[in-house]
Formats: sequence, C-alpha cells, structure tokens
Amino acid sequence: MEHGLPSEGGERVAAWIEKFVRVPKGVGAGEPFKLRPWQRELICSAFDGPRPRLGLWSIPRGNGKTGLSAALALYALHGDGVFGARVYAVARDERQARHVFDAAQSMTKLSPLLAKRSYLHVDKITVPGSDSMMQVLPAEPKSLEGLDPSFLVVDEIGVVDRRTFEVCLDAMGKRPTSLMLCIGTPAENRDSVMWDLRADMLANPDDPLTTFTEFAAPEGCELDDEEAWALANPALGDFLFADAIRAGLPPKTREPRFRRMRLGQWAEGSSDQWMEPALWGTRSTGLAIPDGSEVCLALDGSFSQDSTALVAATVSTTPHLDVVGHWANPGDKEWRVDVLAVEEAIRQACKRFRVREMCADPYRWQRSLQVLARERLPVTEFPQSAARMTPATTGLHEAITNGQATHSGDKRLTEHVLNAVVTEDSRGTRIHKPSKHSTRRIDLAVCALMAHSRATFYASRSRSRRVVSW
Ligand SMILES: Nc1ncnc2c1ncn2[C@@H]1O[C@H](COP(=O)(O)OP(=O)(O)OP(=O)(O)O)[C@@H](O)[C@H]1O
Ligand SMILES: [Mg+2]
Repeated sequence: MEHGLPSEGGERVAAWIEKFVRVPKGVGAGEPFKLRPWQRELICSAFDGPRPRLGLWSIPRGNGKTGLSAALALYALHGDGVFGARVYAVARDERQARHVFDAAQSMTKLSPLLAKRSYLHVDKITVPGSDSMMQVLPAEPKSLEGLDPSFLVVDEIGVVDRRTFEVCLDAMGKRPTSLMLCIGTPAENRDSVMWDLRADMLANPDDPLTTFTEFAAPEGCELDDEEAWALANPALGDFLFADAIRAGLPPKTREPRFRRMRLGQWAEGSSDQWMEPALWGTRSTGLAIPDGSEVCLALDGSFSQDSTALVAATVSTTPHLDVVGHWANPGDKEWRVDVLAVEEAIRQACKRFRVREMCADPYRWQRSLQVLARERLPVTEFPQSAARMTPATTGLHEAITNGQATHSGDKRLTEHVLNAVVTEDSRGTRIHKPSKHSTRRIDLAVCALMAHSRATFYASRSRSRRVVSW
C-alpha cells in the first residue's frame, strides 16, 4: 500500500490522499482527489515537521473544507503509520460532525483498497489491521471526556461551544504526535471560541505548536469586487462557482454575514477590541526583565471576583513589560486573594529590581499600601479615574502601535490585553471587560498601562534632567 510514497511530512500526506482518496460528490465526483497547490500548502503547514498540535484554518464557504478534512481524517486513520490511531470528527452537534464522517465513509467506499481494510459502521470506521478507528462524536462535553485522539477535526469551529472545544483540547497530548485541526468560516460574535483562537494565533505567530491559515478579502473591499472574492476563495472558478456567490450578494444576505461567509472577513465586532492581536504579537520579545533593572511596578488589586495583578515596566522611553505576579480565582465562590502573598511578592520584586515606584489604586488596598510604605517601599497611589486612566490607556496603545513599547510575551498578559474592549465617551477612553459579568479578565492589561505610564514619566523626567545638568 505504501509503495512509492514519500516517507513523511506534508508531501507524504498529499501523495497518500491523491493515491487513495476519490472525490465523493460535486465536481469530479468519483475521480481521484486532485489536490490544488493551496490545499498542498495547507497540508504542509499542518504535517511538516516539527508537527504542530493545534491548527486553525479560516476559509469561506464552499472551498472544500469538509472534503479536505475527511481526506485528512482518512490519512490519519490509515496512512500515518500509527497503530491504534483514534480519529474523531467533532462539530457543534452530531449532525454537523456527520458531514466530515459521511464524506470519509463515501471516500472509503470509492476506494477498493481502503474499503478492503475497513469496516463501516453507523458512527465509526474501524481498521482491524492496525487496531485503528475513526468515530463521529456528539458534541456534549461529557461524551468527549477520556478520549485519546491521534487526529481530531473540528468542523465549523465558528459555531462550536467553548466547553466542547476545551474538552477536545484537554484530550490531546497523550501521544508523541497528535493534531487537533479546527476549520471554519469566521465566527459571528466575539464570544466565539474561534474568535479567541484566531486572536491567540495572530498574537503568537511563532508558536511551533500551532498553525494558522486564513483566506480573506482585503478589509473594507467592495462587496462585488470579484478580485477580492478570488483572494478569499481559493477554489473560485475551480469547484466553487462565482454565480453562487453573486446570487447571495446583499441585500439578499445581510452584509456582515456576506463578509464573513463569502469574504472571510472578521469586520463585525472587532472595532471595539482595544489591541489589535497581530500588532501586540509583533511587540513580543520573549524576554523577561533582567534582575537589577530600573522598573515601575503597578498593582491592580481585587479580593474575590477579578484577579489581582502585578506588572513591571522598565524605566525607559521604550519600556519593556512583564508580569511579576498574578493571583486568580480558580472559580471558587469562597476564594479570597492571599493578601499577605501579594505583599510579599511586592517586597521580593523590590529586592529583585530597582523599583522607582510601585503604584496602585488604593481602593480596598489602603492597608497593604500603608504597610509597604512604612517599610520604605516607594508606594504611590494611581486612582483608576478617567483623568488618570485615559492618557495611560491611549499612551500604551500608541506606544505599541509605534514600536515604542515591548513585552515579554507572557500568555496571561496577552490574554488580558486581547480581552480588553475600549469605549470612548465624554469621560474619556477606558478599557473594560467585554461585559460586566464576563469571566474574561483584563487586570494584567490595566496594570500594564499603569506601569507603562509611570515608566515613561520617569524616563522623560530623567532625560530632561540630564539636559539641564549639561
Ligand atoms: N481537491 C479537490 N478536487 C475536487 N473536488 C474537491 C477538492 N476539494 C474539495 N472538493 C469538492 O468541493 C465540494 C465542496 O466542498 P465542501 O462541502 O467540503 O466545502 P465546505 O468548504 O466544507 O463548504 P461549506 O462551507 O458549505 O461547509 C465538494 O463536493 C468536494 O468534494
Ligand atoms: Mg463544510
């Protein structure tokens, strides 16, 4: 069966698919699945070594996402050299997951060799020769627990429940290689797990454990610009037909939906996100602040609901940010932050760095601030008023935009920064959580802009002083 195939990587996957898989329906039904160059590139991004563990492909409607997923699932079942392979198709519900599974079954039936090796059941394909199995899964998180996938494909990730996604992610990693591949068209709302996943991938482009590909038309393009359609739809004019897209042009389809489904755009809802994920990602250096550096610390304290955060910024005209401490409620109603531990972390930070200032909103933390001030730590108050927060908020945003601030790439800081949404009104510019009761925290982002504000203040002051002394 293996004769003449490359031994590994995306080239092997592509060669295997072309050798054994046939198109189950639509254009070219029954004929060999001829991979297009862009499909090969996608495959290589997920299967060339070192192999990523998690992939996200954002592709508009009708570009063969489900078909390619099914072909990859069959490769994972038969061709990846895994004894005891476990391949799963997951989606919002079982009916949706069946699209991938049914395509894999049809492909199996069309290939004499695969058919000979497999048994087809209602909800699984078994391969006794290698003790392998592909299964379609209902999306209830309970039924997903305890899995040991070698390949898991999540179709239409844009509408998949967050809990389902998380349970799948938790199940990965028990094998030397495994891949969870999430495929879909852009999600409608910001609470979707696909939204977060994309933001995380944009912010961490060099993470070797993940791979991300997006097909999208340029932001703000005209709806009927067919050149833009071609950029977003690699299969256009091949097995995707322009008249089908034309038939859905607004007003027949609402514009935001057309942009998501046909142009692959994320325009809707992104406008209130404070920090552009890719921009934030480019300012990550991966480096901590060296001991002994001159820094400003900022504390955003809370007792039970939100987290308590401690961030440092180097005193510089181009400050570097890093997390010093973070205390988060793990989801327990009775949980209270360990105030003494926070105080001790501040003391330790004052030994580790040359701390110019430790600023905090005194609300509810007055006592701790007094205790630390009495120990001669340089404690100052930074009330979270509009007058103080507006310039700090715009200040950090501008610095990141202009390349005048960097950060360590700490995942928690990135998460909080990307969670933050911004409002501008008569009282000024502020960041806040996506909604009042949202569990997405932003405390580290708040600290970051406070610490940044104080660090640039000292940097400009010491510079002007130097000018005076000359
Ligand atoms: N390399 C290929 N060669 C020939 N046909 C292909 C190829 N890749 C995909 N197709 C075909 O393209 C058609 C559309 O694919 P599919 O339903 O998988 O698209 P999709 O992106 O999942 O669509 P939707 O967004 O509606 O879910 C199918 O009939 C599929 O078999
Ligand atoms: Mg599909």
